[in-house]
Amino acid sequence: MRADFLHARPGRLSLLLVTEIPEHLLKRSQARRGAAGESAGDAAGSTAVATQAAAPAVAAPKAPAVPAGPAPAKPDSPVVAAYKARKKIPVWAMLTLSIFPVWAFLYVLALRPEPATAVGPLGAGVPLYSNCAGCHGAEGGGGVGYAFADGAVIASYPHIEDQLRWVKLGSDAYKSAGVDIPGDPNREGGPHITGASGVMPGWPSLTDAELLAVVCHVRYDLGGGDEESEEFALWCADDSPIYVALESGEATFDNVHEQFEGVIEIGSMPLPGTSADAAG
Ligand code: HEC
Repeated sequence: MRADFLHARPGRLSLLLVTEIPEHLLKRSQARRGAAGESAGDAAGSTAVATQAAAPAVAAPKAPAVPAGPAPAKPDSPVVAAYKARKKIPVWAMLTLSIFPVWAFLYVLALRPEPATAVGPLGAGVPLYSNCAGCHGAEGGGGVGYAFADGAVIASYPHIEDQLRWVKLGSDAYKSAGVDIPGDPNREGGPHITGASGVMPGWPSLTDAELLAVVCHVRYDLGGGDEESEEFALWCADDSPIYVALESGEATFDNVHEQFEGVIEIGSMPLPGTSADAAG
């Protein structure tokens, strides 16, 4: 049975491939197949036959594989026909897809965290204000402590130096030093008197740069201070030279007035506040 089958196939092949495979090669192939078939069928075949059959055993399977490809006038297989008849991707879809890399690029850019150096005092002050929000309100609307919003804090402290000193030292230090007016003595509606509204804790735990950052946030983000002012440029702008000097340790509250012109001494002791028209 098996031998018949093997013989029958090359016979058919020789008809199909008569122009492409020389007759003598086909015959040799047939002969070898025969030998291989016998040795396969006859389990007790001699070693001579087996070694002869070994080489063609590699070539033989190739013979049936050849005719599968070359038949020239073959109609398209269903797969190829389906491929040719497929719906093409419309131009608008291609254009839309071509924008995808741009979108992905911008998306990744947006996910990247801001470089730390771009955060000026206002940016740094936002998280620090969590120390103050409980008493002064998340938006500076006031609570246990005074409100900052709508210019209130600017009215109390026309000069940022007086406010920095107050926030660093707190109300108890002013009380024991006998300094009753930490801010503007000419404040509209009367000056704020030390201890009149309760106890304000001091913040020696914050660095001078951090104190400046949180006070900038209070004055300009919450208090409505004028960002066109000289004070803003000098103390609170992203490129504030005083913030840079405090951050690097080049300046401190004790000596910043010696390094920058027109700056009032902050120091580390309570001092009476200055009015808006006082020399700054
Ligand atoms: C425990 C509550 C509390 C916390 C926390 C607190 N304050 Fe105060 N703050 C007060 C009180 C009370 C006063 C009024 C003190 C007085 O009457 O002497 C005050 C007053 C002030 C004033 C003066 C306002 C004015 O118009 O006279 C400023 C400025 C101020 N606080 C800033 C801050 C900052 C900045 C922080 C955070 C670093 C902060 N406070 C945290 C309770 C607090």
